[in-house]
Amino acid sequence: MEQTTLVQHLQHQQKFLGATGEFTSLMNEILVAAKIISLEVNKAGIGGNILGVTGNINVHGEEVQKLDEFANSTFVNIMGKSGTVCAITSEEMENPVIVSEEKAGKYIFMMDPLDGSSNIDVNVSIGTIFSVYRKKSSGDSVTKDDLLQKGANQVAGGYIVYGSSTMFIYSSGSGVHGFTLDPSIGEFFLSHPDMKIPVRGNIYSVNEGNQIIWDDRQVKLINYFKDFDEKTSRPYKGRYIGSMVSDFHRTLLKGGIFMYPKDSKNPNGKLRFAFEASPLAFIVENAGGRASTGKERILDIVPSDIHQCVPLYIGSREDVKTAESFLKD
Ligand code: AHG
Ligand code: MN
Ligand code: MN
Repeated sequence: MEQTTLVQHLQHQQKFLGATGEFTSLMNEILVAAKIISLEVNKAGIGGNILGVTGNINVHGEEVQKLDEFANSTFVNIMGKSGTVCAITSEEMENPVIVSEEKAGKYIFMMDPLDGSSNIDVNVSIGTIFSVYRKKSSGDSVTKDDLLQKGANQVAGGYIVYGSSTMFIYSSGSGVHGFTLDPSIGEFFLSHPDMKIPVRGNIYSVNEGNQIIWDDRQVKLINYFKDFDEKTSRPYKGRYIGSMVSDFHRTLLKGGIFMYPKDSKNPNGKLRFAFEASPLAFIVENAGGRASTGKERILDIVPSDIHQCVPLYIGSREDVKTAESFLKD
């Protein structure tokens, strides 16, 4: 059989990078959690107790879905026992989970356990986004600086899409690689080696319902994408799923730009730096694309809070540069 499994791929990368194996173990544990969540997402609706809301509101003021909670606790349990991480932060938890010393490893794991969760009940693709950092400080305790690192310090970033098939996409700094789950045997196989995003696309992706609360520059940018110009394939197509992981996945494969701008209600946009913007920025740059706030490279940001939001423009290099040219002062 010619196919490469994700585990084989990780082991090969490990040899290539001269790594110790702790990172490979960590990634293996992510895979286990991903398979459990994939199975649960696929059968959501059967049995009648996994769809719908929990009745709780998270730290971002959003309704917590039962699957959000399921995905969060699955990752916390599995990663917490893996022996590879010392801290876990999550969009769904106000405070970090600090792993007890005897079970702690050298990595920090950050996640949006279920992205696009408002789409669960309508059977639209959702996903998990994750990011891995190395503990910076030398003592036993996890410091604020360990949890608030610059995006560029990521050891790995990735996401899992629970879509018409389940896919696992990751980068540890040497290319972006995509794997598809064969659900009959529970194994991920390499299906998209060394992914590259087109230099320019012809799709823009944004919640245009917010136009009234955007500033002028953002309105002008969208009007530009909708203008007629044969040379630059305009007007662009508009596509917006409302699950960032799915909108991003399409952008990675087909090119174009995904945006969540600031607006008068959310002066820093809606998307979370550590759990959404930074891991996908790491992926897009490793695939030859670009990610910025419109003014600043996402991976250059050092967050001041684990739940900090940032405006986001991410995708094909030329399309993001176009956005920046409209947004500069
Ligand atoms: P989450 O489900 O993790 O809270 O994230 C939802 C995010 C993102 O996936 C999506 O792109 C965006 O929110 C949609 O927001 P709007 O409904 O404001 O367009
Ligand atoms: Mn999200
Ligand atoms: Mn989420």
